[in-house]
Amino acid sequence: MQLRDQVAIVTGAANNIGRAIARCFAAEGARVLIADIQDEAGEAVAAEIRANGGEASYFHADVGTLAGNRDMVATAAARYGGVTILVNNAHWERRGSIEELSEEDWDASFDVLLKAPFLAGKYAVPHMRAAGGGAILNLSSVHGFQVSPGYPTYETAKAALMQLTRQMALDFGNDGIRVNAIAPGAIPSDEMREENAHDPIWHERNILWNILPTIGRAEDIAQGALYLCSPQARFVTGHTLVIDGGFLLGFKGLGGTRVQEFLQRHPDLLGYDLSRPLGPAALIEDDESEQ
Ligand SMILES: NC(=O)c1ccc[n+]([C@@H]2O[C@H](COP(=O)([O-])OP(=O)(O)OC[C@H]3O[C@@H](n4cnc5c(N)ncnc54)[C@H](O)[C@@H]3O)[C@@H](O)[C@H]2O)c1
Repeated sequence: MQLRDQVAIVTGAANNIGRAIARCFAAEGARVLIADIQDEAGEAVAAEIRANGGEASYFHADVGTLAGNRDMVATAAARYGGVTILVNNAHWERRGSIEELSEEDWDASFDVLLKAPFLAGKYAVPHMRAAGGGAILNLSSVHGFQVSPGYPTYETAKAALMQLTRQMALDFGNDGIRVNAIAPGAIPSDEMREENAHDPIWHERNILWNILPTIGRAEDIAQGALYLCSPQARFVTGHTLVIDGGFLLGFKGLGGTRVQEFLQRHPDLLGYDLSRPLGPAALIEDDESEQ
């Protein structure tokens, strides 16, 4: 039990990655506050954890607001006697170019993606300091390293979140508080995987950009989260752990998007030998050779 005696808050834990982290942390002995705005799904995750012998409860927290973060941290401390782990995982964004997005879209995206980790950290740090230390984990993304069309809010916030992670690591290291981030690659939810279980094209599209020919799972991220929030990582802070099946090593940006669109227009090419160099030139050459 790597997290015995720990109290963890996991935001956005009603679904996918947050849910997997909550399950994993509870299985490792932590008492877990599941914070979300999807009450039914959040309650269900807490109930499932309790049914499996873990300790967890749900709290409705809109982390896009100051009150939501303040009350979330106060509730965890009141229910479990402190807060030693905070996972900032909740996600909401509006996509579109800056021309298409309104000021409200920008603010609402940033409230959840960037302001929430600031506010939750602000309220959690005193509890961690009082406990003699703690661990904060911010969920960033491979999108924090590169750009794709239509992601200005998400990508800017995720890049800033990595810098906030380093800043907080510096500011609170002396208090024994470690602050790290994870940058996941594409992680379809269990529900999406089940829905598409019999669709080979969906499967191939999901592994197209990964070096490892496998689809990422929420549990892959949860294992990284467990390491970074456990005593095993006692000498690790300010770090962003990329868990992406090698995605970031592959083709990026517009070139990558063009290849992807090309493959969508020519699904027959999804049978392309992926062990060969895959890029626009290689594909054009391949296409021409067929004519
Ligand atoms: N899934 C991926 O492919 C992927 C890839 C890279 C990074 N990430 C990051 O990992 C984290 C989790 O991703 P996911 O795919 O599990 O997300 P998800 O969309 O499946 O779940 C996000 C959760 O956040 C909750 N939420 C939304 N607004 C909220 C608010 N105002 N207050 C509280 N909770 C709120 C939702 O209800 C939901 O349960 C996110 O930060 C995301 O950006 C995900």
